[in-house]
Amino acid sequence: MDSISKDNGHFSMNGGDGPLSYDKNSSYQRGILEASKAIIEEEIATKLEFSTNSFCIVDFGCSTGNNSFPAMHAIIEAIKRKYESTDLKTPEFHVYFNDVVSNDFNTLFRSLPPDRSYEVAAVPGDFHGSLLPPSSVHFAYSSWAVHWLSEVPKAAEGLKSPPRSGGEMEEVYEAYLGQFEKDLESFLK
Ligand SMILES: C[S@@+](CC[C@H](N)C(=O)[O-])C[C@H]1O[C@@H](n2cnc3c(N)ncnc32)[C@H](O)[C@@H]1O
Repeated sequence: MDSISKDNGHFSMNGGDGPLSYDKNSSYQRGILEASKAIIEEEIATKLEFSTNSFCIVDFGCSTGNNSFPAMHAIIEAIKRKYESTDLKTPEFHVYFNDVVSNDFNTLFRSLPPDRSYEVAAVPGDFHGSLLPPSSVHFAYSSWAVHWLSEVPKAAEGLKSPPRSGGEMEEVYEAYLGQFEKDLESFLK
């Protein structure tokens, strides 16, 4: 089942909530949150150390939101618990949902949890570039997205058929690895 479409040079997930949508075909990706939730909660409980009146969380590569909402809920609840364990006043929360411009943000906004305790905004654009003002993000989240490369590495670009030898294979592997390292470094910066 193909729950991906291509537009403006970027692949994006199939929108809506029909049988071929990402919404209906992403329970596997949802499993990652179940696996990582305890780690996120532990890191917030032990490492989060600052006070602000307005706490900004970004989900880079949120797609249509179905997997993002439970993640944002888990993060915010963990941050609230952290603040409640101190004398600090619990901040208000703002969640910025980022994805490529062809992402179906309408489905995301239509399916926002009505009982959420945060304000929302969309940040359409490429997370390999600059999206938000410097120092404006307090918590960055991304799941199943930052491994999407900014471009096909040059060494793999010209290949018309699968690599024929171990040497060619190694070259392509190294090219993708190098591209990933470059992209991740610039993403983190
Ligand atoms: C497999 S989906 C993951 C969606 C969601 N985070 C989840 O866990 O189910 C990957 C998402 O990353 C987005 N994405 C890929 N490259 C991106 C980029 N350069 N900038 C912004 N979003 C990107 C895709 O459009 C897609 O919605």
